[in-house]
Amino acid sequence: MTIVEESLNARDRMDSPIGARMRIGGRDVDYFCGTSYHALHGHPVVIEAAVQALRAYGLGPATRADMSVYMETEALVCAHFGCEAAAYVASGYLSIMALLLALRDDYDVAFADERSHFSVNDALKCAERPVFRFRHRDPQSLSEQLRRHLKPGQVPVVVSDGVFPSTGALAPLDHYAQLLDAYPGGLLCIDDSHGVGVLGSAGRGTLEHFGLEGERAFCAGTLSKAFGGFGGIVPASRALADRIAAKGGVVAGASPPPVPAAAAAGAGLRLFRENPSMLQALRTNVAHMRTGLAGLGLAIPQTPVPIFNVQARGDLKAVCERLRERDIVVKYVGASGYSDAPSVETLRIAVFSSHSSEQIDDLIAALAVLL
Ligand SMILES: Cc1ncc(COP(=O)(O)O)c(C=O)c1O
Repeated sequence: MTIVEESLNARDRMDSPIGARMRIGGRDVDYFCGTSYHALHGHPVVIEAAVQALRAYGLGPATRADMSVYMETEALVCAHFGCEAAAYVASGYLSIMALLLALRDDYDVAFADERSHFSVNDALKCAERPVFRFRHRDPQSLSEQLRRHLKPGQVPVVVSDGVFPSTGALAPLDHYAQLLDAYPGGLLCIDDSHGVGVLGSAGRGTLEHFGLEGERAFCAGTLSKAFGGFGGIVPASRALADRIAAKGGVVAGASPPPVPAAAAAGAGLRLFRENPSMLQALRTNVAHMRTGLAGLGLAIPQTPVPIFNVQARGDLKAVCERLRERDIVVKYVGASGYSDAPSVETLRIAVFSSHSSEQIDDLIAALAVLL
């Protein structure tokens, strides 16, 4: 047995690509975890694109990204988001950093949701602007902080996750945008890693969902989740993309994602765009899961987000274990166990467009017995 096999709990070891039905610990399971919302990471077209690009170009360009595979992926990002240009950076984690550094001269003070993702917090440290926190998803608290901390003439940037990763909560961006109307030049920047490919009628994310795409609202996203590839993106104007290249060291000073990852990301994005049924299936499954969970008496918000947060009395770790015995895998999240996780233990249930309605029914039936 290798060191890796020994250190990985054999029962949790992933033995197949991610999928609604996949192999974990040597067993076929119904998988309701993670972030591959259309299960594209294991799609044969995505895998083939990665393999062909690897053969054609090798693993990577060693810092410079002057290979056509990068240009093609960026062109697809532009087509999808309807933008002039796109920054494609080494990871989704870094995309909000690239954005906030590039815009740094356009704002004086940052206001951030107190439960923003680690990526947002690290990006704000790098931006070296004063940061004030507002209460989680609370426009009233944001309003108070803006009034309290902005001096006349100063320009704010409001920063938040679009969709919070462990609870699936949506940031009330429409309220934030309304508040910003009172501050000329005010910016809204979101980390939308869980929104792109998921929200909005075309899958452009949380800004599209709220009808906020425009000059003062920016999103940093990822190709590593819903789109089945890898790497961070910032949909941008030409001028902003040039600023990101000039000011965001993560573009000029870091290698881009590896060639096969870029090709896979392009293929995943193309599949997503050519198959609107994916987004429709996701919406159907979200509605199905929401109805099922609400039927168990759980408080489930009415949003199209495919992440469900189950809070209930009792030992949720044990519930997770009992589900596992039925070959159903959901994620147990300990109290405050992630950037946005609540201070009580929860289950995180993710639904994909490729789950069958029987899989969802089986999970709901099992939870009805166990909760
Ligand atoms: C809100 C949020 N932002 C950024 C990231 C990082 O994205 P990536 O995995 O593409 O680097 C994650 C990862 O889970 C996330 O949840």
